[in-house]
Amino acid sequence: SQVQDVFAHKVKAAKNMAFVFDIDGVLVHGDRLIPQGQKTLDMLNGNNQLGIKIPHIFLTNGSGKPELARTEQLSKILKNHIDTDQFIQSHTPMRALAEYYETVLVVGGEGYRCRDVAEEYGFKNIIVPNDIVAWDPSIAPYRVFTDEERASSRPRDFTQVNIDAILVFSDSRDYATDMQIIMDLLRSEQGRLGTTAKDPVSQRIPIYFSQGDLLCPTEHPIPRMSQGAFRIGLEAMYKALTGVELERVVYGKPELATYKYADEVIASWMESLHGEERVPENIYMIGDNPASDIVGGNMYGWNTCLVRTGVFQGGDNDEENPANFGVFPNVWEAVTAACRKQL
Ligand code: G3P
Ligand code: MG
Repeated sequence: SQVQDVFAHKVKAAKNMAFVFDIDGVLVHGDRLIPQGQKTLDMLNGNNQLGIKIPHIFLTNGSGKPELARTEQLSKILKNHIDTDQFIQSHTPMRALAEYYETVLVVGGEGYRCRDVAEEYGFKNIIVPNDIVAWDPSIAPYRVFTDEERASSRPRDFTQVNIDAILVFSDSRDYATDMQIIMDLLRSEQGRLGTTAKDPVSQRIPIYFSQGDLLCPTEHPIPRMSQGAFRIGLEAMYKALTGVELERVVYGKPELATYKYADEVIASWMESLHGEERVPENIYMIGDNPASDIVGGNMYGWNTCLVRTGVFQGGDNDEENPANFGVFPNVWEAVTAACRKQL
């Protein structure tokens, strides 16, 4: 019948679209739920007229916890199950680097959580700045090292270790110490502390950053500096000290590699949801930050929706990076507008 035809058509259309959600400023603020976030996920998870799941993944520049710990926390806040297979945080694609580097310096994050992340990713030999400070406190002259930190660190003779790469996973909690150690390593012979390379380029170990956001909104009224600002500081120091530019790799939104990775995740999530491993034609990115979510989505050919629950505070649309599908008061309005268009 005609009714059945319309229904079949809508089901087909629902399988030919997918949503990509930014997290901070769209679904939550830190640990606080943005109310429309829960309702939106309820709807996409099957509480809709078609009674089917509409594919969606999460793409955040957030960092600092293993994927499972973060998705469990988000599932509780949003009262919807979020699977690690539909979840990408800034350092998730860096898992692939474990194949190339055995001994790595992992920088950033609270306590030793990024060590756990790196272990989970399969890195064999993980060093964090505290291990180095515990071995030789004079490396960071202004650092006050607590007994607790010393007890939980893993010092060894780092003049006998070659560090293969530097991985900045999350925001530095101590710029002075982290920058000093990173600079020592970038200027060393193949990542061996205590040495200084004659040629700064040929013997330099690579450095990777999990994301490039300059600023991050927090409880403070003016946004706080994030990994991008830390990186720019390092680049300027490196240039001043060596005379050469620092080559580096940046992950996260709006870097192309991250969107390619997202496509792979969408395709395999489609497979587990609907048994078809493919990227739907109509992808909608819902974000609050024009400089990462929207510019990246626009470049990648996605439909972009900017919401007013986070970083964006402007007028009709962002002037530099306008969302191509529109600006919406919140995530529910964006998602329902996209569904009205496609279904
Ligand atoms: O800036 C880091 C992080 O808080 C941004 O998260 O989810 O908005 O990409 P998200
Ligand atoms: Mg955001």
